Amino acid sequence: MEYDIRDIGLSERGIKRIMWAATRMPVLNTIRQELAKSHPLRGVKIAACLHVTTETANLILTLKEGGAQIRLTASNPLSTQDDVAAALVAEYGIPVFAIKGEDRETYYKHINQALDIKPHITMDDGADLISTLHRERQDLISNVVGGTEETTTGVVRLKQMATKGVLGYPVIAVNDSYTKYLFDNRYGTGQSTIDAIMRATNILLAGKTFVVAGYGWCGRGIAWRARGMGSHVIVTETNPIRALEAVMDGFTVMPMRDAIKVADIVVTATGDINVVDVEHLKSAKDGVILANAGHFDVEINIQKLHELADKVENIKPMVDCYHLGDKRIYLLAEGRLVNLSAAEGHPAEVMDMSFANQARAVEYLLKHGDKLEKKVYKLPDEIDRDIAIRKLKVMGVEIDKLTPEQQQYLSSWEWGT
Ligand code: ADE
Repeated sequence: MEYDIRDIGLSERGIKRIMWAATRMPVLNTIRQELAKSHPLRGVKIAACLHVTTETANLILTLKEGGAQIRLTASNPLSTQDDVAAALVAEYGIPVFAIKGEDRETYYKHINQALDIKPHITMDDGADLISTLHRERQDLISNVVGGTEETTTGVVRLKQMATKGVLGYPVIAVNDSYTKYLFDNRYGTGQSTIDAIMRATNILLAGKTFVVAGYGWCGRGIAWRARGMGSHVIVTETNPIRALEAVMDGFTVMPMRDAIKVADIVVTATGDINVVDVEHLKSAKDGVILANAGHFDVEINIQKLHELADKVENIKPMVDCYHLGDKRIYLLAEGRLVNLSAAEGHPAEVMDMSFANQARAVEYLLKHGDKLEKKVYKLPDEIDRDIAIRKLKVMGVEIDKLTPEQQQYLSSWEWGT
C-alpha cells in the first residue's frame, strides 16, 4: 500500500485516541452501523482532503465500513496528528499522505497522491483538493460524481468557481447545514481556539484585552468563550449588521486601528487577507500575542511582520517572538489555523454532527449526483433535522411535538386577535 506519513511506529497511541473520539461520536456511529449493513458505498473511490485528526479517522472508517475505498491527505500543513495518520495506515489499511509540518511542495504532492485514486467523490476542507483537480488534473473531472466541502472558506471559493462557470461537478456545502455551522463553527472553534492559546502560551486570560476580528459564527464562538474566561473582549468587523449584533451582545466594537493599540491578544477569524496589516503591527503594544483561527494563513500579514522584525526567535513550540526594536510581537502557530496546529481541533462531540453531514452528503451524491447541476448545494433540511433529532436522542434530551391543533393553527391565516 502506498502512503507517506511521519512514523508508522506511532500507531498504537493513534488507535487509542481514535477509539476515545469514537465514544464521543454516537450519531456518526449510528450511520456507521447502517452503512456496515448494506455497504451502499461499495466500489466508490473517495479522495479526502481533511484535517487528519481522531475525528476525521472516525469519518474515514465510517465510509470504509460502507464499502468505499479512500485516500486521505491533509487540508493544512500543520494540522496533521501523526499518530492518527500512523494508526489509519497500520491498523485500518487506509492510504494516508500527511505529515505535520510538511512544506508547501509536499502538501501539494500529497494532494496529488490522493487524487491518484481517480475519485468518484472528492471531500474537501478549504477546497485545495478540488482546486488542484480543476487546475492540474482535469482528466479526472469526468469520473467525479460530486464533491463535499466542510468549511466556510471552501464554500466561498467553490461559489466563485460556480459563478465563473469553471466548477466541473456538483458540490455539497456541508458547512451550510444548521447542524454543522451553528455548532462546529461556534462551539467547536470557540473552545478549541481558547484551548490552543492556553496550550501554546499558558497565559492567564482573565483581565486581558482580547480582540476578535470577525463576528461570523467562528468569531462569535471565540468572543463568547474569551468572555467566559474573564477577558475584556473587543470585536472588529466590516459588516454593519454583524457589528451591530456584537454591540448588542455586549462586546466593545471598534476598528482594528484602535483595537490593536490596547490588545493583549488578537485572534483573526474573518476568512480575508491582511486583517492585521503593517500599520497594525507598527502600532501594536509590546508583548501582544497574535493568532489566526481562519482557514488560511493570510489574515495576519506575516511577510510584513518578517520585514519589520530585526530578529525572530522561537520561544517554545508554536510560539515565535518577532523583535521590532524594543517591541516584541508573539505569533502563534506561524499564523496558521491555531486551533488545529497548537491544539487538537474541535472536540469530537461537535465533529460528530459535522461528519454525520459529510457521510450523508456522500450518500446523497451517490443517489442524486447525476441529477444535480455543476453548482454548490446545501443538504436537504430533512437530513439536517434528522441529524439534530439523533443528536438530541443520544444526549437524552426530549422535546415537545406540535399538537394537531397547533399544526392546523400554523397552516391557517384567518385567525387573528
Ligand atoms: N476541523 C476543526 N476541528 C476538526 C477536527 N477535530 N477534526 C477534523 N476537522 C476539524
